[in-house]
Amino acid sequence: MDFLPVRAIHEHYMLCRSWFENRETTKWLSSPLRLGRYPKVIHEKLITDRRNQVFFIMVDSSPIGLVGLQDIDRIDHKAEIWYLVGEDHCRGKNYASQAVGRLNEFSANRLGLVSLYAHVSVLNLASIRVLEKNKYQYVGRLRRSFSVNGEYQDLLLYDWVPEFNRNEAKMQVREESDEAGSSS
Ligand SMILES: CC(C)(COP(=O)(O)OP(=O)(O)OC[C@H]1O[C@@H](n2cnc3c(N)ncnc32)[C@H](O)[C@@H]1OP(=O)(O)O)[C@@H](O)C(=O)NCCC(=O)NCCS
Repeated sequence: MDFLPVRAIHEHYMLCRSWFENRETTKWLSSPLRLGRYPKVIHEKLITDRRNQVFFIMVDSSPIGLVGLQDIDRIDHKAEIWYLVGEDHCRGKNYASQAVGRLNEFSANRLGLVSLYAHVSVLNLASIRVLEKNKYQYVGRLRRSFSVNGEYQDLLLYDWVPEFNRNEAKMQVREESDEAGSSS
């Protein structure tokens, strides 16, 4: 699994459009990407806006989906993460989870972000699982703040804080070595 930056070229636009016009896929995304329409002006804004970073998720040199940051805040060093696997046959193969893991590291190490967050519908179980597998923590619930086909749903807020996760990992290693020490 690899990343390729999405650009404003026609080929990239057409591929993104094929995914963003699939309402079954985009119904879970925030507006305006949820609308099932993807005019070139939205593509250009997605790519050129300094508050966004968008990458193709590449598997065996082929793009299968997207992972991105939006609302990158370079003062408070935070951003919202989003993702989709556009090619149906590539779902359930851990690619989205790997891509989120890679983007976490990129955001912390290359962009210097100290907090990533995601809003996910309470009904989007696959997406919740992707966040949980990447050690995102549930931090809150916005009631009735997202509509799918006219039905209002709650949005769950998850966050990932690099230092916190590193410290947690260190503590886990320490606990494991303490346990190994006490049993020997
Ligand atoms: C969410 C999405 C990116 C997940 O892609 P994916 O390639 O299937 O993700 P992964 O394979 O990395 O992980 C999916 C996990 O969800 C689980 N899952 C899938 N459907 C599920 C369901 N209906 N209920 C519970 N778990 C489910 C899978 O079993 C897997 O977990 P596991 O590895 O523990 O078995 C994909 O479904 C998608 O593009 N959806 C539309 C766009 C979207 O919702 N984006 C997120 C907006 S917040």
